[in-house]
Amino acid sequence: MTLSALPPSSGLAAGERRCDERRIAEMLDAIAAISDAGEGINRIAYTATERRAHALVAGWLRDLGARVSVDAVGNTLAEFAGTDPTLGALGTGSHLDSVPEGGAFDGVAGVVAAIEVMRTLAEDGRRLRHPLRVIAFAAEEGARFGQACLGSKAAAGLLGTADAHELRDLDGISLADAMSGVGFDPERMGDAAWDPREWSAFVELHIEQGRVLETEAIGIGIVDVISGSTRLRMDLAGRPSHTGGTPMDLRADALAAAAEVVLLAERLANDARHRGTRATVGQLTVKPNAVTTIPGHVRLTVDVRDVDSDRQRETARDIVREASDVCARRGIGMTMRVIGDISPVVLPVRLRDITIRAAAALGRPYRVLVSGASHDAQMINDIIPSAMIFVPSRNGISHDCAEWTSSSQIADGADVLRASLELLDRER
Ligand code: GLV
Ligand code: MN
Ligand code: MN
Repeated sequence: MTLSALPPSSGLAAGERRCDERRIAEMLDAIAAISDAGEGINRIAYTATERRAHALVAGWLRDLGARVSVDAVGNTLAEFAGTDPTLGALGTGSHLDSVPEGGAFDGVAGVVAAIEVMRTLAEDGRRLRHPLRVIAFAAEEGARFGQACLGSKAAAGLLGTADAHELRDLDGISLADAMSGVGFDPERMGDAAWDPREWSAFVELHIEQGRVLETEAIGIGIVDVISGSTRLRMDLAGRPSHTGGTPMDLRADALAAAAEVVLLAERLANDARHRGTRATVGQLTVKPNAVTTIPGHVRLTVDVRDVDSDRQRETARDIVREASDVCARRGIGMTMRVIGDISPVVLPVRLRDITIRAAAALGRPYRVLVSGASHDAQMINDIIPSAMIFVPSRNGISHDCAEWTSSSQIADGADVLRASLELLDRER
């Protein structure tokens, strides 16, 4: 069967749209209004603000007739009954938290697209055989605790209570305490694990966070590989002392050493052996952080991302080796801890083909591409076959308030999401 021979599953003529960009824009605006003060969107994992966004979305889903629950780690799950109770659920959704000073679309686009799909199905009086579940995951961003996708990891059974006591944010607050602070019991983390027998497939729509689609003027991306990431935390211990009284040859300046680490990470990622790796020092905490004291201590993070798992870990090892050389040469003590390590994931071909067929059936130009960012689908795929649909990001910018995808682009993606779910409903 050729791709183009497939009739549009939702009865759309090529180029026609079913999902409503106006409703999508309204939902995006309402969620964007839930943010702590500061530049851009500040809806940080395990804060009251993140929970308010979940409550808003839960209300919309209830209004659409879903049975809504919140699990032990704060994921919101909404179920729309199917006609065949023996079939596993088809899931779709994404996350509602943001990075500090982030954008309004990362994660939220996938949640509002899922809700819009449910709304159009209801309006069309279309009930699928499979139960449909919309999931708004908690704490996808690794910005607070260093590890990404905490809610989906717990759903996939990949996060335990011990991790909750171990992971800490910049203020030293443990994940366990942050969870308790918004009403979740970290000792019950295991209750959030999904039973794969209750599920059939999961499809996540997300903004691309890169510029491939925009550059090629293509509206739909179908993801085949999701990058992994290795995250390191380094503590560099020098000697604080007077900036005027201490001669240059008697210093152990932890920040000067950290500056070398920043640059060597960049150099190693650009090295021909590691071409394709992205390495970033995104967080530095300098102590005492005073104009007149030589920095005595620096804590920094290195985030190494790749679609090639060997190259990812090899680059991380090279960074650690060269950083220890720098510290030895400068008389700086160095300790290193791996705070997160996720492998790249190749999404299942069969599901990818269904999303491709959905895009093709709707006459929407698409392109297969890799994801540079981590995603909830990466974790869920560990237990349930998963697929990802990307929509373009203006100028490829994300994790910043300049992040932008038009509601019309999200509506186009939502149509492909709906068509994918309908195809899955027929075939699985
Ligand atoms: C999630 O946004 C990530 O950091 O990849
Ligand atoms: Mn995201
Ligand atoms: Mn993100």
